[in-house]
Amino acid sequence: MSIFLTGKSQRLIIATFFLFYSSLLTAQTVAIQLKPSETAPIIDKNIYGHFAEHLGTCIYGGFYVGEKSTLVPHTEGVRNDVIAALKKLKVPNLRWPGGCFADTYHWKDGVGPKEKRPTIVNQWWGGVTEDNSFGTHDFLNLCETIGAEPYLAGNIGSGTVQELADWVQYVNFGGVSPMSNWRKENGREKPWSVRYWGVGNEAWGCGGNMTPEYYANEYRKYATFMADWNNSSKIFRIASGANSGDLNWTEVLMKNIPLQMLEGIALHHYAVVNWSKKGSSLDFTEDDYAANMRVTLKMEELIREHSKIMDKYDPNKKVALVVDEWGAWYDPLPGSNPGFLQQQNTLRDAMVAGVTLNIFNNHADRVRMANLAQTINVLQAVILTDKEKMLLTPTFHVMEMYNVHKDAKLIPVQFSSPKFIKGKDTLDAVSVSASMDKNGKTHISIVNIDPSKKHLLQLELGSGKKMVSGRILTSAKLQDHNSFDQPEKLKPQSFKEAKLNGNQLSVQAPPASVIVLELQ
Ligand code: AHR
Repeated sequence: MSIFLTGKSQRLIIATFFLFYSSLLTAQTVAIQLKPSETAPIIDKNIYGHFAEHLGTCIYGGFYVGEKSTLVPHTEGVRNDVIAALKKLKVPNLRWPGGCFADTYHWKDGVGPKEKRPTIVNQWWGGVTEDNSFGTHDFLNLCETIGAEPYLAGNIGSGTVQELADWVQYVNFGGVSPMSNWRKENGREKPWSVRYWGVGNEAWGCGGNMTPEYYANEYRKYATFMADWNNSSKIFRIASGANSGDLNWTEVLMKNIPLQMLEGIALHHYAVVNWSKKGSSLDFTEDDYAANMRVTLKMEELIREHSKIMDKYDPNKKVALVVDEWGAWYDPLPGSNPGFLQQQNTLRDAMVAGVTLNIFNNHADRVRMANLAQTINVLQAVILTDKEKMLLTPTFHVMEMYNVHKDAKLIPVQFSSPKFIKGKDTLDAVSVSASMDKNGKTHISIVNIDPSKKHLLQLELGSGKKMVSGRILTSAKLQDHNSFDQPEKLKPQSFKEAKLNGNQLSVQAPPASVIVLELQ
């Protein structure tokens, strides 16, 4: 069959095709308003926290190679390359020893002479036997070295109130007591003054399969005996929080735990599309990517919904929402131990990190702490190691670029995002957060998750600025990543596509990019 078209309809079809095709590739203009406000919250630097569990090669082989290692340069067994990288990242707090592992961990087995320490079978993660050579002193000294505040997760699932109370006394008490004396015998005179304490982990699951009502009572009991042994700073107790959308968990805890016993309540949300088939970290389609971004963006709704419940019981926002596990979780790398949760980290993960951190920044009034899962070799890691080799992932670079927001005053932003449409998903393509630091510099972080369209952003700044500079992280393909052969394929580059005109800033945001701008 042949189709005859008149000249007019031919021109119409060509024009329609041209418009459609060019809309796929060319910029759409997005008007964004920055609304500086006296009452806006400070972005707590602890939003940029990390998480280190005894899981796979996060601790053993990742952080710690042991005092006897000759292959990898180290300081008291902790890798020097990792120390340098985490100092550069300015990690504000580090959560340890789990995760699920925390509710099996008996801290007393990890102090004292290393050769006398009993072993522990890591029942959650690969069933491997650990020798407890990385324990409380090793972790807290490491935190001191990198300048991070430690966040210890207590064992509620299989421990006792006495065991946790003793841990607090061991690490925090400066006076004379059985626990502080034992600490001194083990080589540490001064207490570490640990402020952040998790009262169990995922109590609804691996932490004991408790009901929220039962856990709320357990929490009250444990929290009572976690005395403030350190006089200088008040202890900050974080209740084991909800799994993603389990709003009832938050409701029951907020209702049943007196506010004066509670400083933080946790929330865990992983960017997983299908828990029984999570998909490859390296080999994925654009449809998979869109689905990943959908579950990543869900963080916005979760924070809103959990915050709404918290607001009901705590309108003054005394209790922090602590998202102490977040990140992308894919299938383990082929050939790796499935219990070790090892995955690669691509440009897609940079998008996950950028978008999520923007959400946290924009909810800084309630989200005052968060921990990316996990620091080294596990899930959405910022560092990968292979024996003596180490590399920084795209996620590391995004977190490092966002350092500028730490402890800065949030600048609320208002805009309507263009859509990234793929298969069943219609998502906001552009994500933005902004802040002003103590020196009066404004920082704006922009993520364009659309893998094929650039967007032209027109930002109304609210006040005139004289200079703009910036950095960008992007790459040709979503699957691009850093490998031990090519460890710097993705790294931040200087960004020149931001033009300032008094109060107006125009930015060309390329497809799949994370940009951080500085204005002064
Ligand atoms: O981060 C891996 C695991 O995910 C943690 O151990 C647990 O808390 C969560 O289910």
